[in-house]
Amino acid sequence: MPAGRILVVEDEEKLRRVVELHLESQGYEVEGAASAEQGVPLAAPVDLVITDFRLPGMDGIQLIKQLQSRGVAAAVVVMTAHGSVETAVEAMKLGAADFLQKPFSLDHLSTVVEKVMAVQAMRNENRRMRDELDGRYQFDNIIGRSAAMRDIFQTVERVAPTRATVLLAGESGVGKDMIARAIHHHSPRSRHAFVKINCTALPENLMESELFGYEKGAFTGASVSKPGKFEQADQGTAFLDEIGDVPGNIQVKLLRILQERQFERLGSNLTRNVDVRVIAATNVDLRAALEEGRFREDLYYRLNVVPINIPPLRQRREDIPFLALHFVQKLSKDLGSRAKDISPAAVDRLLEYSWPGNVRELENTIERSLVLASGEMLQAADMRIEAARSANSAAAAQSQNAPLLPEGETLEHWEQMMIKEAMRRANGNKSQAARMLGLTRNALRYRLSQMGMDAGTEAAGE
Ligand SMILES: Nc1ncnc2c1ncn2[C@@H]1O[C@H](COP(=O)(O)OP(=O)(O)OP(=O)(O)O)[C@@H](O)[C@H]1O
Ligand SMILES: [Mg+2]
Repeated sequence: MPAGRILVVEDEEKLRRVVELHLESQGYEVEGAASAEQGVPLAAPVDLVITDFRLPGMDGIQLIKQLQSRGVAAAVVVMTAHGSVETAVEAMKLGAADFLQKPFSLDHLSTVVEKVMAVQAMRNENRRMRDELDGRYQFDNIIGRSAAMRDIFQTVERVAPTRATVLLAGESGVGKDMIARAIHHHSPRSRHAFVKINCTALPENLMESELFGYEKGAFTGASVSKPGKFEQADQGTAFLDEIGDVPGNIQVKLLRILQERQFERLGSNLTRNVDVRVIAATNVDLRAALEEGRFREDLYYRLNVVPINIPPLRQRREDIPFLALHFVQKLSKDLGSRAKDISPAAVDRLLEYSWPGNVRELENTIERSLVLASGEMLQAADMRIEAARSANSAAAAQSQNAPLLPEGETLEHWEQMMIKEAMRRANGNKSQAARMLGLTRNALRYRLSQMGMDAGTEAAGE
């Protein structure tokens, strides 16, 4: 694999050959052109165009404009004559990545080219991810590249057209709401209501009147009759959030809705029929509630016709880069932020964290980072991963029954995060990182080799 493709546009043949040969010796694939006119058709597939400013025919500035109007994605570096700063400034204003003032040393040429190519590689990577986002790894606005999420998309597609009851299970912030809405949206019921019912927020008697409605005079204050949420959801979808919190009496009535699609309003003997599709969600393990007798078994089986378990984000880390880029693009517009991209180092930081608040926490983190960042690309240093949260969990860990590690986190992964963080803070210097971790240098080297992070990094820090 060449390090990248470069086009050199220079009418002075000797200089062009020198530049070409030097770049080839650095591992680039290089093409030459003696004029901008010759260069334009060669530019589409390259990563970088290095062009002289003064050329016969079209000049360097016109070349930049030509390339832009053709949508060529290559970066441009302009070679200018000694002392012609205005030209360089003009070129940069038009979007040139850098300039080289003649005469330049081959070392300087290498430095500039390396820098521009590194930025270009990042752009390409972002573009590649964006293309993928546009296609396979997205269902409506739900992003997911992991096998688990793609399975979920398939299930959603299969189950949406039916009236089957769906039980969504997953921690807070994994996307249960989004999936419930997607199922409704892709169902023949999509033109009717999607009614969300939050089962935690209400005391039992209120919940009953909310869900099933009431007749005038059913209780003090019931001065008019009112339909309940299930009636509102007729022909549409009822989404029962936090189903595990529903009290026993109401569980019986839900069972009847699921079995017979029938109910009565509070204070009425009239049995009503309703055509409703039920989707339920829980962020606790309902089986525990079953065993403790807090949740009816018959209702559980009626709800669990199509179970969809959404794994926590830390168990599908490959989704993190895609989600991060998606949120950068979505939020940067709303926030009027300059940042439209996220650097690989910033993504690495996100990958190292365990995300107890799942996708919601990732979205909030990106939002906070966008507000505080100033550049066009979010950098590692811009990542505002909530420190308060880790401090809280450290304090919580002091009490006897609180978990030592964030839920789902393993000691091994936690240790690796610490080691990576130490190496990062020590700029790759192992002795320094070992001191931070209270390890001998050899012990650290051993752990790094276990993590596949030894060799290679040796030269960098020491
Ligand atoms: N796969 C995803 N792609 C894009 N955005 C997502 C994804 N998953 C979650 N989100 C976003 O994360 C946030 C939380 O998602 P959602 O409200 O669906 O989670 P939830 O599982 O219902 O959480 P809770 O249990 O707290 O109600 C929302 O802003 C949602 O847009
Ligand atoms: Mg929710």
